Amino acid sequence: MVTKRLALPFIFLFVCLPLAVSAQNYTFTEHVSPIIYKNCSGCHKPNGAAPFSLLTYRDVAKRASFIQHVVSERIMPPWKADPSYRSFANEKQLTDDEIRVISSWVGDGAPYGPASELQQPPSNTISGASLFGYPDLILQMDEPVKIDGDNKETYICYALPYEIEEQTYVKAIEFIPGNRQLAHHASYQVLEVSEGVDLDNMPAYFEFGDTDYIDDQHDYGYFNLFDKDGNPPMQTYHDGWLPGSGPRIYPEGIGFLLPKKGVFLIRNMHYAPSPINTSDQTTIHIYFSDEPVERTVMFTTFRPTDIDLNTGNIIPADTAIQYDINIRVGQDLSLFSVNPHMHRLGKNFKAWATTPEGKTIPLVHIPQWDFNWQEFYQYKKLLHIPKGSVIHAEALFDNTVDNPENPNFPPEPVFFERGMDDKDEMMRLTFLFLPYQPGDENLDMEDQWRSQMLSNEQ
Ligand code: HEC
Repeated sequence: MVTKRLALPFIFLFVCLPLAVSAQNYTFTEHVSPIIYKNCSGCHKPNGAAPFSLLTYRDVAKRASFIQHVVSERIMPPWKADPSYRSFANEKQLTDDEIRVISSWVGDGAPYGPASELQQPPSNTISGASLFGYPDLILQMDEPVKIDGDNKETYICYALPYEIEEQTYVKAIEFIPGNRQLAHHASYQVLEVSEGVDLDNMPAYFEFGDTDYIDDQHDYGYFNLFDKDGNPPMQTYHDGWLPGSGPRIYPEGIGFLLPKKGVFLIRNMHYAPSPINTSDQTTIHIYFSDEPVERTVMFTTFRPTDIDLNTGNIIPADTAIQYDINIRVGQDLSLFSVNPHMHRLGKNFKAWATTPEGKTIPLVHIPQWDFNWQEFYQYKKLLHIPKGSVIHAEALFDNTVDNPENPNFPPEPVFFERGMDDKDEMMRLTFLFLPYQPGDENLDMEDQWRSQMLSNEQ
């Protein structure tokens, strides 16, 4: 009797399931490896951003249940922006189907599958890079930056000179810090220098003293970048890196000019305090564009507008405070990417624009701020912000014991917008953007992103 009663619902279920699913046994070679290669191997490879590789069957199978856990909980791949508020081209999120495939494969004991189905793992994986294609130009710090074990912040300015056959355009760039444990942020410029500038005898870098203050006269002077008439070098690009942020990939016709003779000047690279003597040797990978670039990407960054930044602002202990940015846009803009930035008291961050007609354009929402994962979120299509719109941002800083990331226990008063020190707090809303051109809102950047990330060629 009992067996019969049990058999009925089972048959019923079986019949109702779509045939494809009931017949399906997922295997590594056929189903799982393409998901892993596409979504995980960019970081999980030798010397990648992640601590272990996910390239071979062995790599993946021996961590099967751990992988099932991190994908089901959406811990991996790391992605902090709420996709229901604004979804992005460089979004790292598995689909529900992909999660189901991995889970079911792990549940079945992680079978290998037919060897003939095995796809090649992404090739040309260069140390540390997440882009797969081989770069056209690699610039690496020759002289490692010395980081003293004095538990103090280190700020440096580093010059990476280069000369190429002729000026060209750049379609993708990846900034790869050599010391991911300590690298806290970097901001860099591409500068065109005049014929007379001596690239061969340029000092490598200098360390800022007690200040992180950036001073063109001093910095350009230090590396002898002024021309004979005393003119400063010309900037063709400005960008930055933050923990967890990936490469920049520009769609056809957009990017920046790489002058024939120039310097990547890391204006400011910041390392968190270290208790031991150590060093950094950062690398920049540059991918040339086959097509001329007609439109050059620009960089802008906003600070809070609801407080006087010249008076010492403090987030008192045991309080949570919200700061705001409100900026009226003076021209039609096409936003390429957005980057919210705070330190460890950050709780959440939301930005949107309001058009003159009162329409709301969602820009980005980070419901749970994580200092380790700060992306330059790249819009799926260039995002048109009409002239006269107001860009708003609000960020919550939690300086209480309820914030597990609070560096001080018990909480202490923390300076806000004083400098860039790790122990201070700050709020920035940064955009890479272009002046708007009609039709920008239709320019699809998602396909571009996918094809570049996965390119196995060269
Ligand atoms: C953007 C880079 C990146 C991508 C993409 C990525 N990971 Fe990770 N992963 C990391 C880093 C960095 C760590 C170690 C630090 C951490 O746990 O946050 C990590 C840790 C892990 C861990 C160990 C977690 C722990 O708690 O120790 C697993 C398992 C993992 N990743 C699996 C995956 C899988 C599976 C994918 C693809 C579905 C993936 N990762 C995609 C960067 C990445």
